[in-house]
Amino acid sequence: MLSQDQNRALTEVGAGTPMGELLRRYWMPVAAVAELDDHPTKPVRLLGEDLVLYKDEAGNYGLVDRHCPHRRADLSYGWVEQRGLRCHYHGWLWDHTGRCLRQPFEETAHPDSRFKDRVRIKSYAVESKGGLLWAYLGPPPAPLVPTWEPFTWQNGFVQIVFSEVPCNWFQCQENSIDPVHFEWLHSNWSRAMSRADGDRSPTHLKIGFEEFEYGFIYRRILEGQSEQDELWTVGRCCLWPNCLFTGGHFEWRVPIDDANMLSVGWFFDRVPNDMEPFKQDRIPYWTSPIKDSLTDRWITSHVMNQDFVAWVGQGTVADRTQEHLGESDRGVIMMRRRILEDAERVVRGGEPKGVIRDPEKNRCIRLPIIGRDFFVNGSSRVESETSRQRTPGLLLRKEFPFLTGQPEEVRAAYRRAMGLPEPGVDARSPAG
Ligand code: FES
Ligand SMILES: [Fe+2]
Repeated sequence: MLSQDQNRALTEVGAGTPMGELLRRYWMPVAAVAELDDHPTKPVRLLGEDLVLYKDEAGNYGLVDRHCPHRRADLSYGWVEQRGLRCHYHGWLWDHTGRCLRQPFEETAHPDSRFKDRVRIKSYAVESKGGLLWAYLGPPPAPLVPTWEPFTWQNGFVQIVFSEVPCNWFQCQENSIDPVHFEWLHSNWSRAMSRADGDRSPTHLKIGFEEFEYGFIYRRILEGQSEQDELWTVGRCCLWPNCLFTGGHFEWRVPIDDANMLSVGWFFDRVPNDMEPFKQDRIPYWTSPIKDSLTDRWITSHVMNQDFVAWVGQGTVADRTQEHLGESDRGVIMMRRRILEDAERVVRGGEPKGVIRDPEKNRCIRLPIIGRDFFVNGSSRVESETSRQRTPGLLLRKEFPFLTGQPEEVRAAYRRAMGLPEPGVDARSPAG
């Protein structure tokens, strides 16, 4: 059981708090590259700070204070120019380094004044990688945006999915090291909701946890499996400090503030060999709703929606003084201890876990990946249907199981990429 102070230390993300400072040592995904191509400004709230992300006409990404330093107008209503973001209130122009480039009436009234050199806007670094835009809110020098191995894979259909979840980020990240929940929150609960008869899902016989350079690995043995299966030999990743990596997808739990979290999912589906080569010009993105507007209840139909229900159910900030932890929570306990130590280390001026500064190393950061050979080399359609069945997550998916509300155009693009028949068309029936 934790004290109130420990609970606060794990959950508060504002500047100057130990966890807020720890999180500011890492790049956070905040938008999709294609999103800014569709609309060049986006309001972003990150780690309790209100900001505006933009892409100017020269292609520079900026992340600046939401409020104009002149008289505080909301810059998410500004417009981008060749260089910088123009405030819609009196036309002051700001660039991505925080400089004021133009002050129209001041320049007319006092052509010789250097007023604009004396005002700056708060600005942060932005980089693109893997179809995502990443922000760094920490002190210089910024580390490198990790080139996680899946970002280098070819012949995959990638999609990015956002959801805003109204609870603290850390209870979401605790789920990244909680293998047993899968059996109950996903398998058995889905069965209970659909009133499925017959076999229940295989139960967990054994779980294991181990720290590695970029986080923790968790392993499991399910009924019918052994220590020879990849769920045990390879395992899955709780990626430092705020991500789950399953092999085929990432889920970042990005802290908006103490009470809200932006879930950023990055999903890779390998196309069957007969559909190669496959290349995406643009990685699609969409936002998944989390509440059913008719019933005003959380949506429970998809895997990550089920996770969201568990997390918001713990309260806006889970009260860890009231818990009763058991054997299934060993990983959660290890992770809490480690992240509090890391936060202390940052307070003392040290570098926390998993920060990458070596460009050579960052050409491709390898992670434990169940079915790596499949993701890299693919497989034939027949193999996809059969030999991959033993390992959860490797099946050729006909529908997107993780989040509700996939737009029809993304679904159609996925089916084309995979060589699946158009919905409603029976693959065996003759064409025409
Ligand atoms: S408030 Fe932005 S230019 Fe005046
Ligand atoms: Fe889950």
